[in-house]
Amino acid sequence: METQRFGTFLNGEIWPDQQGVHINAHGGGILFHQGRYYWYGEHKVAGTAGNAALVGVHVYSSPDLMAWKDEGIALSVSEDPTSDICKGCVLERPKVLFNSRTGKFVLWFHLELRGRGYEAARCGVAVSDSPVGPFRFLGSLRPNAGALPRATHFSANPDIEFDGHEQDYFLKRDLPGGQMARDMSLFQDEDGTAYLIFASEENRTLHLSRLSDDYLAHTGDYVRIFPGRSNEAPALCAVQGHYWMITSGCTGWAPNPARAATAPSLTGPWTELPNPCRGTNPANGLGPEKTFGGQSTFILRVETPHPHYVALFDLWRPDNAIDGRYIWLPIDFTSESHPIVRWTDRQAI
Ligand code: DGJ
Repeated sequence: METQRFGTFLNGEIWPDQQGVHINAHGGGILFHQGRYYWYGEHKVAGTAGNAALVGVHVYSSPDLMAWKDEGIALSVSEDPTSDICKGCVLERPKVLFNSRTGKFVLWFHLELRGRGYEAARCGVAVSDSPVGPFRFLGSLRPNAGALPRATHFSANPDIEFDGHEQDYFLKRDLPGGQMARDMSLFQDEDGTAYLIFASEENRTLHLSRLSDDYLAHTGDYVRIFPGRSNEAPALCAVQGHYWMITSGCTGWAPNPARAATAPSLTGPWTELPNPCRGTNPANGLGPEKTFGGQSTFILRVETPHPHYVALFDLWRPDNAIDGRYIWLPIDFTSESHPIVRWTDRQAI
């Protein structure tokens, strides 16, 4: 394995932290707070065992997105076998926001209970006074029990299948106990309102759910996006008065073509756009048909005088989870009527 010095990150290669250790923050997201970036992600261990959570959520910090300081484990899995986040659970795609009303950092993540595969489909929440933790686990749930969606936005894509079910079969089935919540991301709007977006309804439909003012609960106010389109790995941003989303299809750890969507408001209407990817990853020969070998996890706003946006992808290595790699590519919102994510060899920042 080739090791590079920090400051020369190459997409899909080893990305060393300041100690020279490959960054261990998969399915991650980034918080910018008081002049510093905080990168939260899944801490993986070697082998296939690393696909379950044996350690917790890892956090790194950086002033410049190049030199990353290992800040340790922000949220640890529990040794208590009765805890929802006991060691051996599946804890994926952690994301953090700062709530300026409460002064707290709030972490949401996708949780699967130990020994139950992916059937639990819950989201977990934890809170901390510091961006680097320790975060205190508050609980897990299936959101929005008893609440019907504000709206449903359909994709015009012809590939949609409902597998013989009505398009709202799973929504109705899960109404009493709360909706399924798997791949997820957090988004904070300009007015400070926060949203959780997650793959729901057996991964067939995205739900975009408004959080309470303290970010610790769901409000019951949500929209359904693209029923039957089976989007995973959602990542959101707001640019030029519009909201933009990058997602993947649903093929486990294997790559598939990225998707994009836009809306004038978070509550919609959402419109599906063409695959945003262009170019080829020379290391594996993969281009837009397989998202360069990656899967979306987050859209980073780089806080320069003229902010720009970077799409973050994971290149999963499920046979040796700790060796998963990162691909950060610039998003071009100017060249066409839809965003373009072009391959570059170097990490874009
Ligand atoms: C795809 C998801 O995007 C990942 O986060 C993970 O849940 C894998 N599926 C598991 O197969």
